Amino acid sequence: MTEPQNRIILTGIKPTGTPHIGNYLGAIEPALRRADEYSEAFFFIADYHALNSVQDGETMKELTRNVAATWLAAGLDPSKIHFYRQSDVPEIFELETILNNFVPKGWMNKMHGYKAAIDKNRAAGKLDDFEVNMGLYNYPILMTSDIIIFNATHVPVGRDQTQHVEIARDIAQRFNNQFNDAVFILPEHVIADGIAELPGLDGRKMSKSYNNTIPLYAGREVWEQAVRKIVTDSIEHTHETIRETVLFKLYSTLVTEDQANDMASQLVEKTIGWKQAKDLLLEAVESRFSDQARKYNELLQNPDHIDTVLAEGAAKVRPIAQAQLAHVKQVLGI
Ligand code: ADP
Ligand code: TRP
Repeated sequence: MTEPQNRIILTGIKPTGTPHIGNYLGAIEPALRRADEYSEAFFFIADYHALNSVQDGETMKELTRNVAATWLAAGLDPSKIHFYRQSDVPEIFELETILNNFVPKGWMNKMHGYKAAIDKNRAAGKLDDFEVNMGLYNYPILMTSDIIIFNATHVPVGRDQTQHVEIARDIAQRFNNQFNDAVFILPEHVIADGIAELPGLDGRKMSKSYNNTIPLYAGREVWEQAVRKIVTDSIEHTHETIRETVLFKLYSTLVTEDQANDMASQLVEKTIGWKQAKDLLLEAVESRFSDQARKYNELLQNPDHIDTVLAEGAAKVRPIAQAQLAHVKQVLGI
């Protein structure tokens, strides 16, 4: 076990879209809450991981700033948490190049991301590796480098990313064993203890990919449009079945237990209908996120400030990465 004083939390966020309240309640808020329990925290924007799908420079810049502003508006304090853009820390990529030589190709063949791409191609009658680039193939090695260059001990990720943290552990261990030197700490994943899965407007998981989200930092108009789209039904509900509805699930994650119970009773007793329930949800979204949305928009008014925060963050972490890289090279005799 790692001693409490050496606990280091690290996580990366890909700038691939505009965050929604599922991302906030499932990942951002719990990560910020947890950061206090660690001696050091590293939260970064994984732009080179996003390069796989975002290949237009202007879009990448915009999404990177949006994600940075999201975290800052959510309360990330850059004087306490290392906050940087991956591409500003080139040592990560030098370490990745080194690690490439110690990772069996067969390990990468088994990675979910690569396998999913192959399955999709097969289903479409295409060659296995159709449009699979080396960025996708090596994705887990870059992620390993992100993690072990800072000797992170704990990596909060969604369920789909746990395999990547396990492979980071295997790669670190393999390197340590080969050189009989504990160069790298073996990281472990932590499942974010936020909302496991918030439903989207259509009842499926809320996801950027399904276009069924309540955007995190919009404003009344956009929130209202989203809330009005929530699917409802006209069946007779009991206290049990009402709890299974999308609207109730969303509402109950945002308000106190008493308020949620009130809504459930009123819906069951039909003292309110879905329309009023949606009004209540809209109110809850507004009261929870309005202040942050204002901060978010203010931050985006001043993109230079965001760039400066990220550049200062990189300047603070680079010496740590450089020291680790120097150790690795010394072990390699380079
Ligand atoms: P998306 O599905 O919108 O593309 P990502 O896969 O980029 O979201 O996930 C980013 C983070 O947000 C992950 O840690 C993931 O667990 C969390 N997350 C995404 N959608 C939800 C949701 N509907 N409920 C709870 N957490 C979510
Ligand atoms: N691959 C992660 C995702 O898709 C993002 C990420 C990149 C990451 N590097 C990381 C997460 C290092 C944790 C640690 O969500």
